[in-house]
Amino acid sequence: MIIHDTKNLLFTLHTRHTTYQMKAGPYGVLLHTYYGARLEDADLSYLIQSTDRSFSPNPAEAGHCRAYSLDTLPQEYSTSGVGDFRLPSLELELDDGSQIADLRYRGYEVRRGKYALEGLPAFYGTAGDADTLVLFLEDAVSQVEVQLYYGVFEAYDLITRAVRVVNHGSRPVRLRRAASLCLDLPRADWDFITFDGRHAMERGFHRAPLRPGVQSVGSLRGASSHQHNPFVMLCEPDAGETHGLCYGAMLLYSGNFEAAAERSQFAESRLVLGIHPHHFCFPLAPGEAFTTPEAALVCSPGGFTALSQQFHRAIRTHLRRDLYGQRRKPVLINSWEAAYFDFSAETLVQLAQEAAPLGIELFVLDDGWFGHRDSDLRGLGDWFVNREKLSGGLEALASKINALGMDFGLWIEPEMVNEDSQLFRTHPDWVLGAPGRPHSRGRSQLVLDFSRAEVRNHIYEALRSILSSANISYLKWDMNRSLTEVWSAALPPERQGEVYHRYVLGVYEFLERLHRDYPQILIEGCSGGGGRFDGGMLYYTPQIWCSDNTDAMDRLQIQHGTSFCYPACAVGAHVSAVPNAQNGRVTPLETRCTVAMSGTFGFELDLRNATAEEKAVIAGQTAFFKAHYDLIQTGDYFRLTEPGRETRFTAWAYVSEDRREALVSIVTGAAQAAPPFQILRLRGLDPSLRYKVNGSEVLYAGDALMQAGYPLPMLLGDYQSLQLYLEAANP
Ligand code: GLA
Repeated sequence: MIIHDTKNLLFTLHTRHTTYQMKAGPYGVLLHTYYGARLEDADLSYLIQSTDRSFSPNPAEAGHCRAYSLDTLPQEYSTSGVGDFRLPSLELELDDGSQIADLRYRGYEVRRGKYALEGLPAFYGTAGDADTLVLFLEDAVSQVEVQLYYGVFEAYDLITRAVRVVNHGSRPVRLRRAASLCLDLPRADWDFITFDGRHAMERGFHRAPLRPGVQSVGSLRGASSHQHNPFVMLCEPDAGETHGLCYGAMLLYSGNFEAAAERSQFAESRLVLGIHPHHFCFPLAPGEAFTTPEAALVCSPGGFTALSQQFHRAIRTHLRRDLYGQRRKPVLINSWEAAYFDFSAETLVQLAQEAAPLGIELFVLDDGWFGHRDSDLRGLGDWFVNREKLSGGLEALASKINALGMDFGLWIEPEMVNEDSQLFRTHPDWVLGAPGRPHSRGRSQLVLDFSRAEVRNHIYEALRSILSSANISYLKWDMNRSLTEVWSAALPPERQGEVYHRYVLGVYEFLERLHRDYPQILIEGCSGGGGRFDGGMLYYTPQIWCSDNTDAMDRLQIQHGTSFCYPACAVGAHVSAVPNAQNGRVTPLETRCTVAMSGTFGFELDLRNATAEEKAVIAGQTAFFKAHYDLIQTGDYFRLTEPGRETRFTAWAYVSEDRREALVSIVTGAAQAAPPFQILRLRGLDPSLRYKVNGSEVLYAGDALMQAGYPLPMLLGDYQSLQLYLEAANP
């Protein structure tokens, strides 16, 4: 709900559990007054204190009132050059060389339904789901207008934000920074939580107290990156899963980003999230506009679980455009770890023949099917079938797979090219690369300049003929290197600061076209695993390969970190062979299945080597996953332990909305002799219901399972797993 008190210029956004408020204060500066637990309507600007602070300048209109300074007041969208020395959200360079922006309130608009952003991913919703508030600010000297967009999804406690900067002046300006979100909070005793890692070990949970100055994470790789995720949190020092005030902020963007948190001199704090200002500069001629990517906030007054669940619900239902709709998505088998580049049509059909009787429904042909792609040294860019490997083409292969009752899917990496390819030989000028400089290679490949429509159109046409050549129902869209020598032959020197962003816009435009032309195709995102696992990609690709690391134990950590923002239905997760290809660890097959079914569930191993016993396990686990699909994919997620901290076991659960069903998964660590007994306290159940556990005769009271817990059996051996299916027995 949006409440606008036009007399006092007070704007209040209420969600089910939270309230967010702004006020255009003296001189029209838009101040942030409150964000936290839901409050009844009140003007919360009484919370803002000000006093004469040395070295805190006062705007001209304040005359000699020294108590009014942008240096100390909580700003809704911070500027630069006029007295606020904290993190700026907007940096403008005028044609006189000045770098000053001074924003003042000019007006507002309230709209039913959720705003959309042209060419950019955004949460969507009609009237009834969400409402929109737009606040108009202006820098009077340059006549640059800043429109602050707010989307309020009441049921999900979700507030989205985006900013549009319009040059209404008669002179050109240069946008040097335009953040999507600025959040000023009146205290500084927060922990800053970020999700960081590396290839094959993405999104580890990192938490540290905010210290004086600026702390930031971000990416300058051209993609959101394996190293840091564009989702961060601030929380009270003692906050945990079930208690404490916390805020989560995600950026729906797949390129360079920065998430910076600052603790100011007077122990207040500011979070700024948006496109990374480094390598970014957007000239705006008179009449031109720039729209930032969308950011989204959830505040939970009661701990991390509620925060994550709200993000999960909102992402599931108002971000992913899942054209599978209510249909269950297929359990897949992917050829990569089974065959790598070394296969023929016969091998692939054999793999599919092994998979079909086990209940696996989709066969995905990964890398190696096109051009002369017999290794990762060549072939990218040549999107035509390799007839040496697949003599009958994709059509024959797909129909053999279809005849087994399975769907057929394909891997692509459209943004890339190898020098050893027909495409590069024909169009060497289509790659990103700066004049006079050699190209850095990444995985022996170069990056196509996706900011250019002609390049995208060429690849799109090639892809279209592939898609029309066979019955293809799934695509895995990969992106296997970071960007370097970012320079586009299509733009003049003064506009090269646009290229990183235009590259991302180009990827989005391509994906949007694909989505529009082939709505029935399920697209899974990927970037060497989870190098572009973000809300931007999720708008186009409703699931993303979470990590190239399929080891069950490492995945516990990766999926734990991922779960803070992203729902299980978005997390690509497969069972692979042991010893694991990434770390050599051996884990039981059941455990690999338990961990992989906390995501989209699939297989990536050579089933021709599987024993009859292993096949029986796979068939059983696949049937189990299908039986509990809705619970896993749409149930509320509860982290019951913290991997890494709890060395004896890791546990998590899905609970249905009506609390009548739950699936609890437990995975133990390395075995120990004479282990102590373990009791696991569950969460999210209905305290008044009684539950059967794995069909038990005994009924366990919901309150007892949550307050006293459930005793776990002793499991011998390393990395064992257990799943408990709880079903309410009473009406
Ligand atoms: C990336 C992906 C893998 C696989 C290979 C193929 O590394 O993350 O899953 O598709 O590329 O080259």
